[in-house]
Amino acid sequence: MKVFKGLKELQIFIQTYKRQNPKEIIGLVPTMGALHKGHLSLIESSKKTCDLTIVSIFVNPTQFGANEDFGKYPRKTEADLEICQRAEVDIVFMPEVAEMYPLKPSLQTTFNAPSSMANVLEGEARSGHFNGVLQVLNKLFHLIQPHKAFFGKKDAQQLLIVQKMVEDLFFPLEIIPCEIVRSEEGLALSSRNEYLSIEGKKEALKISQSLKVAMQVIMQGERESLKIKAEALKVLEGLEVEYFAIVDRNLEPILTIQKDSTLILVVAKIEGVRLLDNVWF
Ligand code: PAJ
Repeated sequence: MKVFKGLKELQIFIQTYKRQNPKEIIGLVPTMGALHKGHLSLIESSKKTCDLTIVSIFVNPTQFGANEDFGKYPRKTEADLEICQRAEVDIVFMPEVAEMYPLKPSLQTTFNAPSSMANVLEGEARSGHFNGVLQVLNKLFHLIQPHKAFFGKKDAQQLLIVQKMVEDLFFPLEIIPCEIVRSEEGLALSSRNEYLSIEGKKEALKISQSLKVAMQVIMQGERESLKIKAEALKVLEGLEVEYFAIVDRNLEPILTIQKDSTLILVVAKIEGVRLLDNVWF
């Protein structure tokens, strides 16, 4: 496994690799580190379908708001490298902030995610978040020029916005959605789960349970969003629910759900930690 910190070294390596192996497929798994089994499933998908797997580990400052946890976000370089090594990752790219963002913010080219997708749900609470995500992904996609990039359905809005950018701007790149990995009890794995106490983790199970109930109601034939939501909210009683939304793939609220175009998202705060989960129907 090769570990690159500098952009130049990485670029030279990739250019040489592509020249020497023109038919090989390069897979990119963008992460912010603190790797867990969720990230690992993305790495495994890339290993299965690509010849070269590159994992980027970069806590991207431009996607954190002023009052968010950029400073506090878990950084576990050694453990992450060990996980990558064991997963037989080919290349880890872990640049410094100054390398990715050498200029002050006012001198940087930024990206605007489509406003109707970026200013709702996660974007409503986290203004500018998705522009920051697209900014760093643009840098990574241009630097690495992967054939495929792997994203978790866990961050559904992020996945849909990235897919939209790739389509709109004709990126020669395939975005591969990967299933949500959960704990045995059902909690969607997240780096933020480690801020929770044992009690908090138990409370957090209500989040995935609410989605399970929503799906049960749907399987029984219910198609009205309001009714599905009402049943799910019963499970979430006692939690600080930020939103429970039933939307289509453009993230627009729908009154009647339809198979293959419905996304149910929930965000709740437990012990001050925002936890996300969702289910695709
Ligand atoms: P991060 O939160 O580290 O997540 C990296 C990738 O892992 C994302 O695509 C996310 O959806 C996926 N992931 C996280 N938990 C998962 C789970 N339980 N099951 C399946 N996939 C899971 O998302 C980011 O980083 C950043 O915004 C990034 C895209 C790297 C841009 O900075």
